Amino acid sequence: MKKVMLIFGTRPEAIKMCPLVHMLERHPAFETVVCVTGQHRQMLDQILNCFQVTPKYDLCIMQQKQTLFDVTVNILLRIREILEAEKPDVVLVHGDTSTAFVTSLACFYLQIPVGHVEAGLRTYNLHSPFPEEFNRQAVDLIAKFYFAPTEMSKQNLIREGKPECAVYVTGNTVIDALSTTVREDYSHPEIEWARGSRLLLLTAHRRENLGTPMKHMFTAIRRVVDETPDVKLIYPLHMNPKVRDMARRCFSDQERIHMIEPLDVLDFHNVMARAYLIMTDSGGIQEEAPSLGKPVLVMRDTTERPEGLQAGTLRLVGTGEQHIYEAVMALLQNPEKYHEMEHAQNPYGDGHASERIAEILAQHL
Ligand code: UD1
Ligand code: UDP
Repeated sequence: MKKVMLIFGTRPEAIKMCPLVHMLERHPAFETVVCVTGQHRQMLDQILNCFQVTPKYDLCIMQQKQTLFDVTVNILLRIREILEAEKPDVVLVHGDTSTAFVTSLACFYLQIPVGHVEAGLRTYNLHSPFPEEFNRQAVDLIAKFYFAPTEMSKQNLIREGKPECAVYVTGNTVIDALSTTVREDYSHPEIEWARGSRLLLLTAHRRENLGTPMKHMFTAIRRVVDETPDVKLIYPLHMNPKVRDMARRCFSDQERIHMIEPLDVLDFHNVMARAYLIMTDSGGIQEEAPSLGKPVLVMRDTTERPEGLQAGTLRLVGTGEQHIYEAVMALLQNPEKYHEMEHAQNPYGDGHASERIAEILAQHL
């Protein structure tokens, strides 16, 4: 039996790795070990509970207002003895977080092969998203197996000179998760609250948007809600205190805006499925929305997910106040513009990405 170790630490990694954990645990070829860094605490635990995954190791590194230095140093120092004790045949990391980068670096120092789940996404702008573009390129320098979600991400890797035989197009495991969560007969108090109005859904957390850009984003959205009586907005807040402070300053006294705690992923997917329009700077939501046919205004200057733009469901609107305001108002006031974006197309696979990754590892480890 080959030992596969999965190491992750934040909410989005957990959502996309838990389906793979279950798949590998069921597979007779593998012994599966899960280690979490705890880069996120509450938001990670929420997902582990949802998917009923119990890690063997938890590095517990999260500190309030942690810097990139804190995260990097604390993971690097704590992961070494676990890797040396477990001696896995391969370590799987996910995406572009500091957890993924630092874990890969530790594996490189110890000469342990790395498999990169969600490999090959690129903006080629090291400052946007920051530091994620660096993280994902650095992981791909180290990785031995590349699990690219789409043909476009595969082509990025090939253009960079990665060996074609090491790059596999698997789909994105987020679709594996999504296919188990969205239900017809779903209800939630927030959905009941919004009944009879058009439901807007907002999330925001990107490091490069903290401060002035986030103030502009929120001011634009506040103007939209103030001027449009038939909309209600649900905003599940990220746990980052800097995000929470800004959100409270901009939204507290508008009763058609509900700021709520992070939703369980099952609830979040179902709220997405019932939203009229989504506004976000998140990465994962850009992948989920096209398969639900939900228009998404992406409040960023770049995206590493061009598939959603091509599918017509995503539009990049930057972080300028007036531009965001006009883009949201245009969709709310012009049904033709809205319907143009409302396609249910799914560029991210058929919900069997985890199965493919497990089979590839079974053949090639
Ligand atoms: C991290 C990832 C980002 C990913 C995002 C998903 C890096 C550099 N960034 O950014 O790629 O898109 O997660 O959400 O890896 N906090 C809590 N409880 C939690 C989670 C966070 O209190 O459960 C607070 C802490 O004060 C922490 C802050 O949020 O200091 C920021 O968390 P951190 O992981 O450093 O960065 P994110 O912005 O969440
Ligand atoms: N999500 C969630 N609850 C929430 C908000 C988001 O479960 O209240 C999920 C969402 O469905 C997506 C993921 O979290 O799968 C996105 O995480 P985030 O935006 O924190 O990170 P990113 O994808 O930008 O790295």
